[in-house]
Amino acid sequence: MRPGSRGPPGGKNGPKLLPLLLAAAITCPVQAQHDDDRWRSARERLVAEHLVPQGISDSLTLAAMRAVPRHEFVPADQRLHAYENAPLPIGHGQTISQPVVVALMTQLVRPRAGMRVLEVGTGSGYQAAVLAQTGARVWTIEIFRVLAEEASARLARLGYRNVAVRHGDGYAGWPEAAPFDAIVVTAGADSIPPALIEQLAPGGRLVMPVGDPLLDQQLVLVEKDEAGRAVSRRLVPVRFVPLLRGER
Ligand SMILES: C[S@@+](CC[C@H](N)C(=O)[O-])C[C@H]1O[C@@H](n2cnc3c(N)ncnc32)[C@H](O)[C@@H]1O
Repeated sequence: MRPGSRGPPGGKNGPKLLPLLLAAAITCPVQAQHDDDRWRSARERLVAEHLVPQGISDSLTLAAMRAVPRHEFVPADQRLHAYENAPLPIGHGQTISQPVVVALMTQLVRPRAGMRVLEVGTGSGYQAAVLAQTGARVWTIEIFRVLAEEASARLARLGYRNVAVRHGDGYAGWPEAAPFDAIVVTAGADSIPPALIEQLAPGGRLVMPVGDPLLDQQLVLVEKDEAGRAVSRRLVPVRFVPLLRGER
C-alpha cells in the first residue's frame, strides 16, 4: 500500500473478513436448527428402535423421552453416543443410565401433571428432566456436591423450573417435601431405605434396584395402597451403581 493511501476498514483482513462474518451470522441459526433436527431424529430412532420394542408403551413416558435432549446431559466427549441405548460415564465413577431403563422406571411410577416425585441419585439430571417433562413436580437428591451443582445449573439452563435439586444423602429421603406420589431410586442397595417407604403417599409407587449388582440385582416396584400397606414385586434384572452413604 502506498504511503498516504487509506487502508481497508478493520485492517488488512477487513474486506475478506466482513463477508465471512456476515455469512457466519446468516448460517449459524440455520446450522443450529439443522443440529436440533438431527438430535430430534436421533431421539425418534431411539424410541422406535429400542424403547417401543422393549415394552415402553406409556404415552407420556414416550413423549418425555422424545422431548428431553439427552445430549445436553452427557459430557462433551460423549455427545455422539447420547442417543445410543447405553449408559455413559458422567464423572466420579457415576453414569447416566441406559435410556430404556430411564423410560422403564418412569413408566413404572406413572408420573402425571401435578404429581410430587422424589428421585434419589440426580447424577446428570436426565432422569429428573424426563420425570419433570411429564408435568410432575420433582425433588432430586445427589450425594456428590459437584454433580448436584452441575445438574442444578443444567436443569435451570434448559428451563426445567419444576425440579428442585439438593446435595445430600438420599437414604433419608426429603422429609420436608414428603409425602411423594412416586419415588425413583437410581442407585442400588440390599434393601429399600425405610425412610423412603415412609415418605411414599398412600396410592404411591416406588421403584429401586435391589440386590447385589454382580450376582442378582432386580428392579423392585413397591406399591402402597390407600390403607398404607406396601407390597413389593421384583420385576427385571438390572445393574446399577451402589447407593452410597454419607456426604461427598
Ligand atoms: C446411575 S447414577 C444416576 C443417573 C441419574 N439419575 C441420571 O439421570 O443421570 C446414580 C447416582 O446416584 C448417586 N448416589 C449414590 N448414592 C446416593 C445417595 N445415598 N444419595 C443421593 N445420591 C446418591 C450417584 O452419585 C449417582 O450420581
